[in-house]
Amino acid sequence: MRILLALAALFLAAPALAQSRTVATAASPSGTLQLTVTINGEGWVGYAVNRGTTPVIGESHLGFLFSDNRQMLRNMELRNAAKSNHDETWEQPWGEWRRVRDRHQELALTFQERDKLQRSMRVRFRVFDDAVAFRYELPEQPNLKTANIVEELTQFRVLGNGRAWWAPAFESNREEYLYNDTPLTAIGTAQTPFTIRTDAGLHIAIHEAALVNYSGMNVASAGGGLLKAVLTPSSSGPKVVRDTPFETPWRVILIAPDAPSLYHANAEILNLNEPNKLGDVSWVRPRKYVGIWWGMHLDTQSWASGPKHGATTAYAKRMIDFAAKNGFSGLLVEGWNKGWDGDWFATGDEFSFTEAYPDFDIKAVSAYGLKRGVHLIGHHETSANIAHYESQLPAGLDFARGLGIDTIKTGYVADAGGVQALDANGRKVFEWHEGQVMSRHHLKVVEEAAKRRIAINAHEPIKDTGLRRTYPNWVSREGQRGMEYNAWGDPKNPPHYDTELVFTRMLAGPMDFTPGVLSLMGRGNTPIPSTLARQLAYYVVLYSPIQMAADLPESYEANPGAFQFIKDVAVDWEDTRMLEGAVGDYAVMARKQRGKPDWFVGGLTDEEGRDLDLPLTFLEPGRRYRAEIYRDGAGADFRTNPRAIAIEKREVRSSDRLALRMAPGGGFAVRLVRIGR
Ligand code: NOJ
Ligand code: CA
Repeated sequence: MRILLALAALFLAAPALAQSRTVATAASPSGTLQLTVTINGEGWVGYAVNRGTTPVIGESHLGFLFSDNRQMLRNMELRNAAKSNHDETWEQPWGEWRRVRDRHQELALTFQERDKLQRSMRVRFRVFDDAVAFRYELPEQPNLKTANIVEELTQFRVLGNGRAWWAPAFESNREEYLYNDTPLTAIGTAQTPFTIRTDAGLHIAIHEAALVNYSGMNVASAGGGLLKAVLTPSSSGPKVVRDTPFETPWRVILIAPDAPSLYHANAEILNLNEPNKLGDVSWVRPRKYVGIWWGMHLDTQSWASGPKHGATTAYAKRMIDFAAKNGFSGLLVEGWNKGWDGDWFATGDEFSFTEAYPDFDIKAVSAYGLKRGVHLIGHHETSANIAHYESQLPAGLDFARGLGIDTIKTGYVADAGGVQALDANGRKVFEWHEGQVMSRHHLKVVEEAAKRRIAINAHEPIKDTGLRRTYPNWVSREGQRGMEYNAWGDPKNPPHYDTELVFTRMLAGPMDFTPGVLSLMGRGNTPIPSTLARQLAYYVVLYSPIQMAADLPESYEANPGAFQFIKDVAVDWEDTRMLEGAVGDYAVMARKQRGKPDWFVGGLTDEEGRDLDLPLTFLEPGRRYRAEIYRDGAGADFRTNPRAIAIEKREVRSSDRLALRMAPGGGFAVRLVRIGR
């Protein structure tokens, strides 16, 4: 009987045991978002988020799984709590906003295990009006000297039903996938950032900030809206190996009432990064550039030596003349260096970063360019053989610097999981593009480049987590399907892809999308799914401080009207406002040129045409502006009539509205020049 009673007591106690109690709370500055931190009956730490009275993230647990130590999850108790409020405005050396406001409440909670290991972790939360972020900080401690992390037990329990736009993780083409558009419950293993719209209309994106010496986070569904972190693997077994003390990247949940405010919330990712560590970065110059590039993707030129070699002295000089004549200050030259002959994709160990092909006199070409105000943009394709690249890194960067090169495009073409590195014993190992080894590699390149006043634009990169704030010479990167997919992609980028990109990948930071293909033709004269005006819209909608005019000079010469916008458009901004948009449908962006009173507006749409009636209230009241409008012409349609464009000028004021029609697969671009009272 006593046993039975004891058993009954246990059963009765069970629900109570599992019940969570609130141990701390925090709220965003305007009270919009509220955070609750709990410990349940098992001693698991959890967090939940409300927006107003709406629960958005239900109790989600936190912890770690180690390969050589018991998991860190249960038996936690709160040891210390510190709350503080922050409100600071800082300036970006370049960017989509000059000033960024960082306003949040911080809650730093130290938890410790009650049992014999007594390990402790601090979780630092920051609650903004449009985001909640947290990171783990593992202090130095006797029972956790080295953290061999096999998984982070971080959960995101998204409440309610919704729709999600996500790209699959761990597939061979790395970050370069079309988005899946599925119910929230059907998310597979997603790369971040990815975006959810709940049935109630809330917009949520999950990402990370300050990915330093750690492995990139993906997110997988555990069923019913419960999502969990899945770290990128490593050849060493554990996905992350770190000695304590250390801190993880920030886990970030952007939460906004609509799609444009979700886009604006991405500033919090910058706020979660450390300030500029490089000091004076006036040498990092936003610019537009042209390239010996598209011809290779069309297969009319080659990277390799031979009759189709693109990077010849004569052609580069012609390209410099073209750049100088049209006001571009950069020329990217791919295929300049030895190593492209043979199967460069597979090996990468033949690349030289200091030796040009004999038909490319790099000294003469760079000197010719500098005289005309055109800097060569260096190219370091590594085939993701970082062992080989790092062995030449200082020499390769010195060589570039000596030629006046101040920007280098790096490249890591290799299948996912195919990064070639050396382990601590000097043995060749294979790594993932977003693993811990690559997080260290990229920063090493960026820091070495900074010492030589060189900016880096990485292709096949690690994802952007806002590190441009700390290292402002990390100017751009690829990290999704760019224009090259419209040369040879199967399929090409469909119009709705761009309108998903804006609300997913673009939340992370600048993308070197390489827009402006006015021929609207890919390899073998296959059509690009875009109207002509849409090619111009990209320059305003898709942010990058370095923007390419990707097409061949002859195509620009054949389209002087549309080309004028590419010549005029700015690349560095005082202010950015998304005027309208819906994930996967359309986006309209207004940006004010830095240091000038002029604005640029761009919009693009999916396969549906769309009528817009845009208020111009962002303009200075009482002033007149000349609107130079590039819009889809009558009957334009990306399938049947992609080239129809109307270019016109009008005078407008802030009290006016701009009525525009975007064709199916189309868009528009407008320059607004202030002309007086
Ligand atoms: C892929 C890059 O995205 C592309 O821009 C480049 O031309 C090739 N790799 C070769 O490096
Ligand atoms: Ca690429």
